[in-house]
Amino acid sequence: MVFTVAIDGPAAAGKGTISRAVAAHFGFAHLDTGALYRAVGVKGGDPVEAARNLSPGDLERDDLRSLEAGQAASRVAALPGVRAALLDFQRRFARRAGGAVLDGRDIGTVICPEAEAKIFVTASAEVRARRRWLELGGAAGVRPLADVLAEVEERDARDRNRADAPLRPAADAVTLDTGALSADEAIARAIALVAARLGGRAR
Ligand code: DC
Repeated sequence: MVFTVAIDGPAAAGKGTISRAVAAHFGFAHLDTGALYRAVGVKGGDPVEAARNLSPGDLERDDLRSLEAGQAASRVAALPGVRAALLDFQRRFARRAGGAVLDGRDIGTVICPEAEAKIFVTASAEVRARRRWLELGGAAGVRPLADVLAEVEERDARDRNRADAPLRPAADAVTLDTGALSADEAIARAIALVAARLGGRAR
């Protein structure tokens, strides 16, 4: 069975948590496409070459989740050559047998417009910044909340305003605002939506 779940949205909206849970629930493979751009961003050298030569080890670096890696990812992600180098891998992953969940910015619009289920996960910049700040240690961490908010807003603006594959909901995506939801509630809604799409097709 080929069945793609496209989960897009801005930074720290909850895409990763929801995608992992949806994939585990349905037994689908999961690809965090942001990790590909993060790996290119932190690798250094020519980003297009880095994207062409990405190896599994590059995705295992333990600095990929830092704010700096997020910024570096957002910068290299604006380069058409980088996006082109990562396209085929993501498309093949999306249409692999057995079902796949991909989370990113352009899955439902560019990577897999034919995805059977599309969810656009969002929340206000303040809510998202607070979540990312807590992940980084909160008041005990090294980053003030205001810095994290500025980082989130800068990254959103770059991801939304780039010419190639900007962040935006696909016309046929369902928006899931996680601002007022617990993680469990957001996951339950996403699972219900995917189950409805799966139920509606002959298997
Ligand atoms: O989802 P994330 O925070 O790990 O993504 C890091 C950056 O990578 C994000 O700011 C923009 C870029 N990105 C992208 O352009 N397209 C994707 N499909 C995924 C991420």
